[in-house]
Amino acid sequence: MTKNLHRKTINWGIIGLGKIAHKFAKDLLTVENANLYAVASRSSAKANEFAQQYNASKAYGCYEDLAEDPNIDAVYIATPHVFHKENTLLYLENGIAVLCEKPFAMNVEEVEQMIAKAKEKNVLLMEALWTYFLPHYQFVLKTLEDKTYGNILKLKADFGFKSNHSKTSRVWEKSLGGGSLLDIGIYPIFTALSTLGNPNTMEAKATITETGVDSTCKVEFNYNQNIKAFLESSFIEDTPTEAIFYCEKGTIKINTRFHSPTTVSITELNDKEKTIDFNYKTIGYNYEIEHFNNLLRQGKTESDIMTFVFSKQLIKTLDDIRNIINLQY
Ligand SMILES: NC(=O)c1ccc[n+]([C@@H]2O[C@H](COP(=O)([O-])OP(=O)(O)OC[C@H]3O[C@@H](n4cnc5c(N)ncnc54)[C@H](OP(=O)(O)O)[C@@H]3O)[C@@H](O)[C@H]2O)c1
Repeated sequence: MTKNLHRKTINWGIIGLGKIAHKFAKDLLTVENANLYAVASRSSAKANEFAQQYNASKAYGCYEDLAEDPNIDAVYIATPHVFHKENTLLYLENGIAVLCEKPFAMNVEEVEQMIAKAKEKNVLLMEALWTYFLPHYQFVLKTLEDKTYGNILKLKADFGFKSNHSKTSRVWEKSLGGGSLLDIGIYPIFTALSTLGNPNTMEAKATITETGVDSTCKVEFNYNQNIKAFLESSFIEDTPTEAIFYCEKGTIKINTRFHSPTTVSITELNDKEKTIDFNYKTIGYNYEIEHFNNLLRQGKTESDIMTFVFSKQLIKTLDDIRNIINLQY
């Protein structure tokens, strides 16, 4: 059961001390009443170095030891996708709240198991889809919901860059869940689902590498009244990495890189573009952390933003796309 954490400083743990763990740790240090208490790596030396860099009190040389620490309130899981389910279950089993990186797991069956465990243990679990919590994204959601510029007619969202990842990186490695769709294509898909909802039908095409994962993936969602979303990811070329909502009375453009702290440009019909700056001061992970801390303090076991229903919808959509492009892990 989630511990009673009302007003208390939340003691965080981080596991999987790679690229994203560093960014998360930097932003965690900016959050009030949150403490980076412990880190865990498969390597003790790496854990010690990371703990020293971010002033964590404890450094563990395996993930299991962190799960046994009674002072941990919440853990952030930053391992490759294929380990998200087993890592999440380990901490939930020990009553530790879990914030797990995207994609939540490899398929909907795994996500359902994670949610079932969280419910059984009555412990908070959330997918770390940080974009949902960023003020510019919340602003766009509200503007669309209020229909300030009328209904959406079309959405275009992409995320692409020419990868300089080494050939052995997890992003190309099938056994680690590599490929553009699950890694970065998830953001355009998330954008469509969080604004237009589930599509009626979809089409998808991908290019598959020698290692058997998708280097590019293009998806088209079809909705009622001929509304469409064009969604794309690529590890082989630089693409604008914007999300553009073409609405009846104007265009709302989330500027590059749309999934992270950025600006929003609005062009009303027959008018000049105006750009809104959200004055971000951090990398942007503090917003999901603050939300998660508040849920913990309120004794909640599910987010009202990144809900279980939405996480299931997101992974199910990714499963459906993978079926079309014939990509099985
Ligand atoms: N929200 C975001 O903005 C964002 C950005 C990038 C990535 N992500 C997500 O975060 C997760 C990690 O991505 P990343 O880019 O940080 O990956 P990364 O740099 O490769 O780090 C992953 C870490 O996982 C641990 N790990 C455990 N088993 C492993 C194995 N068999 N092979 C490789 N690493 C293993 C390693 O940490 P130890 O050696 O310390 O155990 C490794 O450093 C992915 O699921 C990804 O989708 C999210």
